[in-house]
Amino acid sequence: MKPNIGISDKNLKSVATLLNTLLADEVILYIKTRQAHWNYEGDNFMEMHKFYEGQYEELAEMVDEIAERIRMIGHHAEGRLKDFLKLTNLEEQNYTIDQNEQVRNLTDDHQTIIRLLRNGIEKVDKLKDAGTVDLLTKIMEQHEKMAWMLRSYLP
Ligand SMILES: [Fe+2]
Repeated sequence: MKPNIGISDKNLKSVATLLNTLLADEVILYIKTRQAHWNYEGDNFMEMHKFYEGQYEELAEMVDEIAERIRMIGHHAEGRLKDFLKLTNLEEQNYTIDQNEQVRNLTDDHQTIIRLLRNGIEKVDKLKDAGTVDLLTKIMEQHEKMAWMLRSYLP
């Protein structure tokens, strides 16, 4: 049964498309952060290992919230890796165990997502979906904090 929540079908579809792209970006960033957690080498290994773990756990929560929001507005969430790779705005780099390179790449990804979200919030506001605006704003703030923490490791 279709939701009757005061937002037109056309608007809901546009919001769902935007959310599915964000979902793809978050899944890719989750995997990239998890990869850094596995493949880091250095004398502060345990600090970085745990730091990355905290970040990917937060990203995993976001992934679930975004997918469930797509369901709440009557659409289906993407869930195949090949679909995520087609949709994502992020790049996957070569493997590296270098802290600076890992942190720089992840910082860039968070900042890319923040910029996309800032745009997305404006679009969704015009589409009259206050619930999604609220979710996107919360997620943007989480990325701003994660990006700050990553940047703090960079000279
Ligand atoms: Fe682990």
